[in-house]
Amino acid sequence: IKKLAVLTSGGDSPGMNAAVRAVVRTCAFMEIECMAIYRGYEGMIEGDFVPFNARSVNNIINKGGTILKSARCEEFRTPEGRQKAYDQLKAAGIDCFVVIGGDGSFRGASIFYKEFGIPVIGIPGTIDNDIFGTQFTLGFDTALNTVVEAIDKIRDTASSHSRLFFVEVMGRDVGHIALNAGVAAGAEETLIPEQNLGLERLLDSLKRSKKSGKSSSIVVVAEGDKTGKNVFELKEYVEKNLPIYDVRVSVLGHIQRGGSPTAFDRVLASRMGVKAVESLLEGKANLMVGIVANEMVLTPIDDAVKGHTKIDRELIRVSDIMTI
Ligand code: F6P
Repeated sequence: IKKLAVLTSGGDSPGMNAAVRAVVRTCAFMEIECMAIYRGYEGMIEGDFVPFNARSVNNIINKGGTILKSARCEEFRTPEGRQKAYDQLKAAGIDCFVVIGGDGSFRGASIFYKEFGIPVIGIPGTIDNDIFGTQFTLGFDTALNTVVEAIDKIRDTASSHSRLFFVEVMGRDVGHIALNAGVAAGAEETLIPEQNLGLERLLDSLKRSKKSGKSSSIVVVAEGDKTGKNVFELKEYVEKNLPIYDVRVSVLGHIQRGGSPTAFDRVLASRMGVKAVESLLEGKANLMVGIVANEMVLTPIDDAVKGHTKIDRELIRVSDIMTI
């Protein structure tokens, strides 16, 4: 392998820059050329490549987002689009690449590998923590800390006005951010797609909470939860059926995707970047780097995209006990 490329793809996540830096610096250390591909697969199709050296990634370890830009690319889903991408890689003399992204980005990488045999290693970058083969995805820890900080602030005002707040958090169709944030921020209830509490039980729980002397309440709701149609419907339902509460809704939104990565995400990104390049140099391909029991492990990309990480049942129990 003489020339390796790196790209970020799909929804951005804090820590992606730290991973780009790690890939580029590992290439410099191993004395192989490194190309940055801008705008994900879109840039691959258009040949948006820039040679990077160790100094190209100065001062980015602490930056949120991705300096390489990201895109969700429709054209890469077509055989014609992937053919164009292959032609561009070949023309630039790129032998293999590292893709930093979520399951959609990995699905594309795997199809591309099977069609053209270009070795690829994936680094899981998404705040949702929903990828099989790793206990933590890049950005999850940072997003979680952002959510907890936001809920702490909401708690101040909730408590001053004795209000009930529904706080919607991201996570697509899984509840990892919600469950962990609920425990860390001391929420009264956490609604996640993996465990349907039901509207009746939510009311009972809120009644109990009021009776037990709590004057304000925070309910964390994962965006994928199906207890109500959405947080606004939950608000209406509680206002109608439990008028003792003055209810407000806060949808945290894309604030969760930004910000400087935590130390945990920076360290994880650095370890994953090194492991990804080393794996390619060892002739490995179509695998994703993950962290399990604090060790770097490799999982076939096809397995990584097939299943989600399971929700932590022990944490659900802890959450239930804490809401007494
Ligand atoms: O996958 C990351 C994520 O932030 C999800 O939590 C959320 O559902 C989705 O992306 C939002 O996507 P977009 O940025 O395209 O609105």
